[in-house]
Amino acid sequence: MGWTTADIPDLSGKIAIVTGGNGGLGLEVARELARKRAHVVIAARDAAKSAAARAAITTDIADASLDVRSLDLASLDSVVEAAAAILDAHRVVDVLVNNAGVMATPEQQTNDGFEMQFGVNHLGHFALTALLWPSLLRSDAPRVVSVTSTGRHFGPAVNPDNPHLKGGYDPWRAYGQSKLANVHFALELDRRIRDAGLPAKSVVVHPGFAKTDLQARSVRESEGGRSQRFFHDAVRRTGMTPARAALSLLRAAIDPEAEGGTLYTPRWVNWGPPVRRPLLRRSRDRAAMATLWEVSEGETGIVFDVEPAS
Ligand SMILES: NC(=O)c1ccc[n+]([C@@H]2O[C@H](COP(=O)([O-])OP(=O)(O)OC[C@H]3O[C@@H](n4cnc5c(N)ncnc54)[C@H](OP(=O)(O)O)[C@@H]3O)[C@@H](O)[C@H]2O)c1
Repeated sequence: MGWTTADIPDLSGKIAIVTGGNGGLGLEVARELARKRAHVVIAARDAAKSAAARAAITTDIADASLDVRSLDLASLDSVVEAAAAILDAHRVVDVLVNNAGVMATPEQQTNDGFEMQFGVNHLGHFALTALLWPSLLRSDAPRVVSVTSTGRHFGPAVNPDNPHLKGGYDPWRAYGQSKLANVHFALELDRRIRDAGLPAKSVVVHPGFAKTDLQARSVRESEGGRSQRFFHDAVRRTGMTPARAALSLLRAAIDPEAEGGTLYTPRWVNWGPPVRRPLLRRSRDRAAMATLWEVSEGETGIVFDVEPAS
């Protein structure tokens, strides 16, 4: 039967932040963490969707302990504001689930001029993690979860001379770049954590195919793009429910046995219960990880020093 929500221990006293916790997989992660008595901060963009998510969770779990914080990952100002509000409210953060994402959207820029998918899926999360790091380090067992996709296999590692893919933009290549960046960030963060001898863990997840708004949004934003429609139809027919697909994220976020620097995915790549899977050599390219870290610090202007100053 595999790992299920019944395996989630009591999380009383734990504080978890879930980006994009107002819909899709993020909503299911927020719901199950709240069910096990964690205090959950939904960090999300669309305020109406966030209010609906809060209502849905409290209808299900009357005593859920929830907070909603406005976060637009396409704006560094918003990331800085959200992080400041979270730091102000929570001296300690135990779990950060960097879940929010967009897929195969047309060429667009974030407020800071970043290519949208790289900006939202990776750079915004890099900045948020760096800014929340002091609170995470106050936890006994801090955990950061990054969410990748099979898209990582068809994306290039970030090119420091052209991180925003200027010229010949392709929406799937851009998604692939951002999702490979999610893996490289997770593994480089874990390497730095271990070098610093910290008790934190950074884990990466591919949730599998799930019927969420991800594919529908990519169809809407590409105005009915052919490949986006094809993928949307395929996931509608064969995808898992958001609740099932969220299990990989939940396992990576709270299973005490999960090790840092590992990948969780459904057993049959896009379907099935969450299991640990090996990382291909391309995902473990040390030079690409170091380059991504440098590019991320350069683009965001945020220096992410994993080792706390003594
Ligand atoms: N569904 C799948 O089959 C699948 C497969 C592989 C990987 N994934 C990954 O799983 C993660 C969750 O996706 P999902 O399937 O749950 O899709 P979803 O239903 O579309 O949810 C995406 C979430 O990201 C948020 N988001 C998008 N842009 C944002 C921004 N600029 N700032 C803050 N939040 C933003 C959305 O919030 P708003 O609506 O408020 O913008 C929403 O809560 C993504 O990282 C995706 O790449 C999904």
